[in-house]
Amino acid sequence: MINRPRRNRLTLGIRGLIRETQIQPANLVWPTFVQEGENQRTPIVSMPGVSRLSIDQLVADSKKAFELGVPAVALFPAIDDSLKNSEGKESLNPDGLLQRAVKELKQQIPDLVVITDVALDPYSSDGHDGFVQDGQILNDETLPLLAGMAVAQAKAGADVVAPSDMMDGRVEAIRWALDEHGFDNVLICSYCAKYASAFYGPFRDALESAPKEGDKKTYQMDPGNVREAIREIHSDEEEGADWLMIKPGLPYLDVIRLTREHSELPIAAYHVSGEYAMLKAAEEKGWLDYDSCLMESLISMRRAGADMIFTYGAIDAATILQR
Ligand code: PBG
Repeated sequence: MINRPRRNRLTLGIRGLIRETQIQPANLVWPTFVQEGENQRTPIVSMPGVSRLSIDQLVADSKKAFELGVPAVALFPAIDDSLKNSEGKESLNPDGLLQRAVKELKQQIPDLVVITDVALDPYSSDGHDGFVQDGQILNDETLPLLAGMAVAQAKAGADVVAPSDMMDGRVEAIRWALDEHGFDNVLICSYCAKYASAFYGPFRDALESAPKEGDKKTYQMDPGNVREAIREIHSDEEEGADWLMIKPGLPYLDVIRLTREHSELPIAAYHVSGEYAMLKAAEEKGWLDYDSCLMESLISMRRAGADMIFTYGAIDAATILQR
């Protein structure tokens, strides 16, 4: 035998020399849930190891992540029910929870990249990402609020705004509004191909943001579709997106690869709450090794073409990479 592929797997050193895909803490974004209060950490039952954090705790954990080499956090606020209404007005409040969290993070850790979520659902009494009228999710009527939300977040100091709502035309609306207010240096990470996925369940537990009625299938994408993703890629590029996000991650590796082939923009993959929960649940049962499965999941998304990965396991992964 002349060809023996196993020769290239012989030792740790050889394997390291020829490894095609690397992952570093620099590729990771830590998504995290913010709540009111002080010194509060509220565990999320369906996401073992993840808690909703009051702002002081958020700063402490973000410092830890940053010192481990994780350059970015993505913030999701848990808004008190009394502040939710069908218009989602609280999202514009300059002193709202998310805005205060951004300010505090940028003050305490100026070099941390702070990414904010632009979507109605955490603020909406309907639990939808757009305004609801007679059971329909309104598109164009929702855009000004999304644009206003992005401006409020930029004013607080957000480096990157990330629309996760899947309304048509929102990237353009947000770009215009940001520029009009002098925020031409604020990036847009567009959730470009976001599928109507059951893997978001634990996230909705964390924020108590599940739709009160109906589902999100008239705006998030059908899991069976991939040509539609190309259409979304092109329109988000034309509308001025700086990064393209594919979500969820592992069940949609083909979409990540396709995006890599159809765009020159940086790609983010979102290793979502349900993907994380599965690993943790299997670990608790003693059925899987969480550390190895987490790293393998992350490397798969990088191999498929993602530049960065949003993962609840960011601090775990950075810790593992330090060993
Ligand atoms: C809502 C939003 C969701 C996630 C991020 N932003 C849930 C949804 O669309 O219902 C899910 C993230 C995760 O599951 O980790 N705009």
